[in-house]
Amino acid sequence: MSDPRPIGLFDSGVGGLTVSRQIFRLMPGESTVYFGDNAHVPYGPRKPEELIGFAEDILTFLVSCGVKYVIFACNTNSSISLPVVRKRYTVPMIGLIEPGVRQAVRVSTGGRIGVIATEATIKSGAYQRALKALNPELAVFGQAAPRLVPLVEAGQAGTWESFEAVSEYVQPLKQAGIDTLILGCTHYPFLEAEFREVLGPEVKLVDPAEATIMAAREEMYRLGLLNNPGGDPVQHRYFVSGDPRAFQKAARYFLGEEIPSVQQVKLD
Ligand code: DGL
Repeated sequence: MSDPRPIGLFDSGVGGLTVSRQIFRLMPGESTVYFGDNAHVPYGPRKPEELIGFAEDILTFLVSCGVKYVIFACNTNSSISLPVVRKRYTVPMIGLIEPGVRQAVRVSTGGRIGVIATEATIKSGAYQRALKALNPELAVFGQAAPRLVPLVEAGQAGTWESFEAVSEYVQPLKQAGIDTLILGCTHYPFLEAEFREVLGPEVKLVDPAEATIMAAREEMYRLGLLNNPGGDPVQHRYFVSGDPRAFQKAARYFLGEEIPSVQQVKLD
């Protein structure tokens, strides 16, 4: 059986493209529908009720596009909205937290794991709980980094400013002696060079996207949702709630790819 329907994914902006990248690499036969809610970026400082409302609007839109599976390409929504909205939709969904945590525990050498993420993700305690649930002996250190998403959305990764911001946020984690750092926001892999530079080669960096797509692929296989390669050509569609040009510019800059058509959709 082969299912040619697309996979839906969403984020507050360009961050979820770091997840798309892994879909293209690990499931090249799948089509996607991407929603970037850049009219509401950043999500980090927002209240749970508001985030859940955005997630519901976006999920309803993605379902109307005929998606067969949804990937929360946003840690903030994976932490806060997914556990609430999962029961309200029949389409199967996955978030980044559990796969990211399993990967971090696999690679950690000394059981001292840092999580850097938005304020909302850190405040939710989702990563901290999931890590402790896997192994109560782990030492877990959370760090909110509110300046990073606006820098990435403004195309300022790779600048002195982004380096300084990453250095500042990472200091307490370095002092805590972490051996592994979870990049708990999909915008942060765009700042990987900064993290690498500040932390040095000994600390392992975990981007939950790869482990999430591998887990998604397994679940889709079990549910008979994979598309057999060699069928219809794959198609990737992009929608945003705000300025399509800003999204295109960021995608060109980060992915080195031209996204010819990004449609603006107002959900409220
Ligand atoms: N990229 C999202 C995340 O992974 C949201 C970041 C934001 O808009 O604050 O959390």
